[in-house]
Amino acid sequence: MKKFLAAVLAAVLCMSVLAGCGSKAEDALPTEGVSEENAGASEGAAPAENATEDNGDSKEAAPAEDAGATEAAAVSEALADGVLNVGTNAEFPPFEYVNDNGEPDGFDIALIKAIGEKMGVEVQVDNMEFASLVSSIGTKIDVSIAGMTVTEERLNTVDFSNSYYEAVQFVIVPEGSSIASAEDLKGKTIGVQLGTTGDFIADEIEDASVSQYNKAVDAVNDLVNGRLDCVIIDKNPALVFQSKFDGKVTAIDGAQFDFEVENYAIAIPKGDAALAEQINNALQELIDDGTFDALVAEYIEGGNE
Ligand code: ARG
Repeated sequence: MKKFLAAVLAAVLCMSVLAGCGSKAEDALPTEGVSEENAGASEGAAPAENATEDNGDSKEAAPAEDAGATEAAAVSEALADGVLNVGTNAEFPPFEYVNDNGEPDGFDIALIKAIGEKMGVEVQVDNMEFASLVSSIGTKIDVSIAGMTVTEERLNTVDFSNSYYEAVQFVIVPEGSSIASAEDLKGKTIGVQLGTTGDFIADEIEDASVSQYNKAVDAVNDLVNGRLDCVIIDKNPALVFQSKFDGKVTAIDGAQFDFEVENYAIAIPKGDAALAEQINNALQELIDDGTFDALVAEYIEGGNE
């Protein structure tokens, strides 16, 4: 459970990292109107070196002062080709899934496309394994949107945008299971998606045996087939799986297990303050103009999948 305090701490830390290295990243979510000028005025903050080809040994994320002077958004090297390459793992409805046309779709995909539009760049989405997203940022992909929780550990490798969604881990159990508290999880066989915060939580549960899956749905299938006692996964996917496996499983709120709140954000190359600022500005515009809420209604509250 310590990790979860850490995650919350990390969320706070993330904001201050960005505030420290962006030219003027206003901190957390909503607040403040954002002006029209994010469409890429030049000038100002030197793009961070590690966004370029040389697979960037992460520099300290602190080009602070020199960047601080200007309001104009600098252009990130990552966007030199006019394309924002986005990594996701489309196994996480309603945030990302593969639609009937075989394409990645979902809340996150719609959000990053809207962000790209505001930024004036083309968005290309690459569907890959969740566990390799963070390490691919700055090389194979520019950024990742994947219902990814800000954690202290990930902050060693990447920076995060402002957070755009609050979540918590849920516990999916077979219908009629007696699992109802943190105590009950001890010694259980627990399914998780590899490399997720659910995986990290399960890892800390006393005497639990943890089965890691590349696809969350495979874990839920094994749960239904009696191979697992429970699955730990984020709230919204848990609710989607609950309705998909209607009558066979129940999704229980992680608050009942003392799981801490998590924050989703877009992972960006460490030190790329210009990109962070552009993404944060675009995100803020989408919040201010109502697009963000419309996407929440369509994809998350609408039960669309
Ligand atoms: N929020 C969890 C994490 O960051 C799970 C995210 C899984 N996302 C996905 N697209 N499969 O670890």
